[in-house]
Amino acid sequence: MRAAHGKKPRRLAATQSSPLPIAMLPRLCLLALVLALPAGAHAAAPAGEPVKIGFFMSITGRDASFGEAALRGARLAIDDLNAAGGILGRPAQLVVEDNRSLPGESATAVKKLIGRDRVVALVGECASSRTLEAAPVAQAAGVPLVTPASTNPRVTAVGDCIFRVCFADPFQGAVLATYAWKNLGLRRAALLVDASAPYSVGLADVFAKTFSALGGEIVATQKYSGGDKDFRAQLTAIRGTGADAIFLPGYYVEAGLAAKQARELGLKATLLGGDGFEAPQLLEIGGAALEGTVYSTHYSAESPDSASRRFVAAYTARHGAAPVGLAALTYDSVQLIADAARRAGSTDRAALKMALAGTRDFPGVTGRTTLDENRDAQKDAAIIAVRGGRLVFVETVRP
Ligand code: PHE
Repeated sequence: MRAAHGKKPRRLAATQSSPLPIAMLPRLCLLALVLALPAGAHAAAPAGEPVKIGFFMSITGRDASFGEAALRGARLAIDDLNAAGGILGRPAQLVVEDNRSLPGESATAVKKLIGRDRVVALVGECASSRTLEAAPVAQAAGVPLVTPASTNPRVTAVGDCIFRVCFADPFQGAVLATYAWKNLGLRRAALLVDASAPYSVGLADVFAKTFSALGGEIVATQKYSGGDKDFRAQLTAIRGTGADAIFLPGYYVEAGLAAKQARELGLKATLLGGDGFEAPQLLEIGGAALEGTVYSTHYSAESPDSASRRFVAAYTARHGAAPVGLAALTYDSVQLIADAARRAGSTDRAALKMALAGTRDFPGVTGRTTLDENRDAQKDAAIIAVRGGRLVFVETVRP
């Protein structure tokens, strides 16, 4: 009985049993015309239930500059998607959670987004420590999570639901150490490491290994804890070692404060950092003390690529300033999820996960993204230097 019932032929559409009403023909012609247009030209307005994408980031608190940049990138992506017909014809919607830069809050945020909001996928965090908190929750629920900028290798190792659209620290650390040794001629590096952050510990480790392998010397390793404001004790210890470089794998607030205190203490060593330095507030906090600082990041708003040019123009028109790499990576993260839905023909979480894993050569504003078997992307690094009080793009390093 049951099987027979299941096999009962379902009437597909009125078209099968009755001819098309003449009145519908013009509408169908119009639909065909719309579909024939290039994407984004005059797409039909999205309709129906929104496709919810969960977004969690440090929108307030210590790392608010990161959250703000990422949110701007994500919102622009959602608006561009909806202007181009949405996700599979449905409106794309961003559901935003603020973890206030606090430990513990990212896991809670992601639980809410998954359970309460029923998001189909997640975008976040930037800090590796906070993505590492959220990732096991997403993994256990089978919800794909795309991190725009967490570079610690352990992040995507959490499981097959976790994806990354940027380079990872084994590459970034090697790029920095090589640049310091070869291009800047630095030979004696001191490390100032945030012992509470996996990003900082991991990046310091790769830097030290590469720098030593090249023939450089690590003359000191000093520790701090994220949120610290006084680095004088560590810097005084470093002063006694004759270091010509201080590598600080931390975020912009610490970078700015440590730079100021280092100059006050008479240290002349070159300050080096990673992607965590990049925030509009870096120069506001560190000012002239940052002169000569060099750091690596994910993207340059000066890229001549046409997709990037369009993104920079739209972002600048909206916010009055060019996007940082984090904004661009977050834009691409949202677009990548939409692309996966398109390829899967579904917004089902499992289907999205499969399609994301198959991402090859996705053309984004940060270049092409291909996800490898570890769900990681290989992307170029950009070297930025502070010269004359301005951030200057120096060069691109390919993986
Ligand atoms: N890569 C950093 C981390 O993993 C986060 C970061 C990315 C910060 C980009 C700023 C810009 O912790």
